[in-house]
Amino acid sequence: MRIVRAKNYDDMSRKAANIIAAQVTLKPDCVLGLATGSTPIGTYKNLVAAYEAGDLDFSQVKTYNLDEYRGLPGDHDQSYRYFMNVNLFDHVNIDKANTHVPDGLMEDYEAACAAYDAAVAAAGHQDLQLLGIGNNGHIGFNEPCDSFIKGTHCVDLTESTIQANSRLFDSIDDVPRQAYTMGIGTIMAAKSVLVIANGDAKAQAVHDMCFGPIVPSCPASILQLHPNCVVVADEAALALCPAE
Ligand code: GLP
Repeated sequence: MRIVRAKNYDDMSRKAANIIAAQVTLKPDCVLGLATGSTPIGTYKNLVAAYEAGDLDFSQVKTYNLDEYRGLPGDHDQSYRYFMNVNLFDHVNIDKANTHVPDGLMEDYEAACAAYDAAVAAAGHQDLQLLGIGNNGHIGFNEPCDSFIKGTHCVDLTESTIQANSRLFDSIDDVPRQAYTMGIGTIMAAKSVLVIANGDAKAQAVHDMCFGPIVPSCPASILQLHPNCVVVADEAALALCPAE
């Protein structure tokens, strides 16, 4: 696991966008695993700017998102499909047919989750998987639990995640209690992983991800076993990590 220190959110966002841009430049038909949340918004802004400057071409890129709230349609303004359209897909020359987000309204969800994993595998797995990290060490919506769950599945969100994500909803009662998420096996199958984190609320989770025991109570800690994982984090998020 390599740690790259960023000065602040903007610096983290530029560094992360540069890594993703390098991936798209080196392999124009790459498969990107993408993330939502506040953390990647600046990264996506930088990618849009690079596209507008003529430096990036998304026409052959395929994307698979990590997760989606159960019960939210893609046009709901808090759905992750909506987030991806507004923050990235609507602003670059990606073919929307090549963008994939788990369907929050899937009916036979076990079959649909298995089909999502099969599609990621058939695409050749993610060349690069972008991840944020939850305050409690979750990745995607893989919440702390007793075991690492391999495939895409339905999860009950923890109270701490519902609380953290309620800032984006009108009221905490509007936050869905369940979500679909890529599993740990689907994430770990990516050829490279890029984790981004900023702010002191993430400091404990970033420490435990990078230096704690590899345990499902901190799902991100499994990334210590990934052969090609880079963490780009700002000073506040790295505050509890050893200096070098
Ligand atoms: C959400 C998402 C995660 C994200 C995390 C952190 O629960 N499912 O993919 O990494 O929250 O979000 P933020 O970047 O807003 O702190």
